[in-house]
This record gives sequence, C-alpha cells and structure tokens, in this order.
Amino acid sequence: MPGDWSSFWNGPEDRVMLAPMEGVVDAMMRDTLTQIGGVDLCVTEFIRVTDRLLPESEFFKDCPELRSADRTRSGVPVLVQLLGGQPGPLGENAARAAELGALGIDLNFGCPAKTVNRHDGGATLLKNPERIFDVVSSVRRATPAHLPVSAKVRLGFSDKIFHVEIAKAAEEGGASWLTVHARTRDEGYRPPAHWEFIARMREAVSMTVIANGDIWTLEDAQRAREVSGCRHIMIGRGLLSDPFLARALKGGDPGTWPEAFEWFERYVQMSQNERGPHFASARAKQWLKSLGRRYNEAQAVFEDVKRLSHSDEILEGVRQSCHVDFLATRPKVNEAPAAAQET
Ligand SMILES: Cc1cc2nc3c(=O)[nH]c(=O)nc-3n(C[C@H](O)[C@H](O)[C@H](O)COP(=O)(O)O)c2cc1C
Repeated sequence: MPGDWSSFWNGPEDRVMLAPMEGVVDAMMRDTLTQIGGVDLCVTEFIRVTDRLLPESEFFKDCPELRSADRTRSGVPVLVQLLGGQPGPLGENAARAAELGALGIDLNFGCPAKTVNRHDGGATLLKNPERIFDVVSSVRRATPAHLPVSAKVRLGFSDKIFHVEIAKAAEEGGASWLTVHARTRDEGYRPPAHWEFIARMREAVSMTVIANGDIWTLEDAQRAREVSGCRHIMIGRGLLSDPFLARALKGGDPGTWPEAFEWFERYVQMSQNERGPHFASARAKQWLKSLGRRYNEAQAVFEDVKRLSHSDEILEGVRQSCHVDFLATRPKVNEAPAAAQET
C-alpha cells in the first residue's frame, strides 16, 4: 500500500467512511455529508460490470468527482466501486477507472439484490471464496500499483461458515483493505449486526479491516469498535438519519434539526438543479424518511409531504409545518457541487 494510504489508516485518527448506497448516496449526497464534516473517505454507488469495457460516461455518471481529482468539494477522496463476477472485465474496467483519475477501486461482494445475484454479482461470490481471490487478484494486477484495491464483503451468503476464508481470500488476492458489513446476504438488513465475526476476520489477516453495519449513534460506534476490534468504521444509514454523526464522532458539534433542515434544503435544491423536480422530490422524501429516525420533526412532516411530487412543494411543506423562524433569516444556499456542474 502506498505511503499516504498507509498513514491514512495507521495515523492517529480513527477513520469514518461513508458507505456506498445505490440510489441514495450519489455525488450530491457525498458533497453534502462531506461538507458537514467527519467523513474521511467515500465510495461510489456500484458500477455494474458484465463482459465488456464500459464507456467513460458510465464512470463519470456515478463518479462525477473524477472531474475534480476524484475528491468531493470538501476534498474527501472517493473510491470507484465495481460490481461483477468476471475477473477479466473487472480488471479492464478498473484500469479504465484508474486512467480516468480514480484514487482507488473498491469491489462489491455484498450486494444482496436478487437481480444482481442472479447475474453473478455482489454477494453471490461469497459462496465461494476462491472467486473473491480471482476477482481481487485480477483487479489488483490491472490497477496501477500506487492505487489501492479494496473489497467490501458480508459474512457469507446463507451462513457464516466461510467468513474467515472470505477475508483471507481478499488478502491473498492483494486487497489493500477490507470492509465488512456484519451480516450474511440472507440476513439482509435485519438487526442485529454481528460485529463479533468481524473480530475473527480481522485476527486472520494483516490488512486493515473496517467495521460496518448498524452504527446509528455514538454509542453504537463505540461498541462496534470494541466488539470488532477495528479502529475504523463505515456508516451508511446512520449518517442519513443523523448527518452530524461523523462530525460528532470526531468531537464536533452534534447538530440540531434546524441545521439538518438547512443541509436537507441545500441537497434538495442541488438535486433539483441537476436532475429536475421529480428526481429531487423522490430523493427529498427518501432522505426525510431517514431523518425521521433521528428527528421527530422530520418524522411528523414526512406524513404531510409524502404525496407531493414537486421538490419545491416539499421544501415549502417542510418549512410551513415546522413553523420555524430561523428559516426566514438565513441566506439561501443554492449552488451545485463543482464536479456535478461539469457533467
Ligand atoms: C439502499 C441501499 C443501497 C446500498 N448500495 C450499496 C452499494 O451500491 N454498494 C455497496 O457496497 N453496498 C451498498 N449498500 C450496503 C451499505 O454500504 C452498507 O454496507 C449497509 O447499509 C450496512 O451499513 P449501515 O447499517 O451503516 O447502513 C447499500 C445499502 C442500502 C440500504
């Protein structure tokens, strides 16, 4: 692993990664959450690879940050995530991502979706750890040595019998680090996450292991770290419900609903500028629902706006239903991220 990544993981700071989430954590969400602070590294939504080299546009679509040194506006690096089952084409596409400026490649071995698994991608490969070795080693060979190739796995497909083999296969294939979502594919997203299995995987390898799954609060983060023995964690849904969680984990301000609303509004306006009001309205409702887990205000207002189809109506609905004066006095933030503007 090149020196700067080694010091990234081995330096004094416990790292927080923003989890990749297809259909949720797009470049605009990465921009928003990394501006709030506390997030050290992002991963794109998965880019599906079958048997051919994808056009450049596919990489720029899922990773517009490639146009700005593969970093978010606040300077946080973004790994390009590939998903597939064929070592050769995955290698070719990793090399293409590297040519386009990717700072690293992450390989998805965790996606539970039936359509993805039927087409031999994501968690299906967990059934046979050798296949993880084959994919990682092919991508490692095809990717310039100074760029990391990481793997993101679950504990297994139907059961956990191969969890240690999975970690070893990734390491033997040359993975720079491993992120573990502490459930099997069949466990879906059902709580609890089994962080204790991550500890066994971590003990079996020498690469850095990052713990993931069901980290919703500061206390969860602490327990996940204790149980898994991992310093570094990845958070997905927890950061959508509490966008200040990563910042608070670094000792920063834990945030309030009015501040959360400002970022929500900014994200919705950005989505509207980039993708239009219908896309923005779907994303607005989706994020509001997640925010409802942390903020009662968001939960209450979700019911009022869930049938609206224009993002302006949704923003207005939230403003009205919250009856908060702070909204009238602060300046509007209405800019799109530099990277997204260029596409
Ligand atoms: C809607 C949704 C989309 C996801 N998309 C991806 C993806 O594209 N790539 C990936 O590796 N994991 C994906 N995941 C899994 C997350 O990265 C993460 O491993 C999982 O949500 C557990 O972490 P959390 O409890 O912090 O959310 C997705 C999860 C959800 C809920």
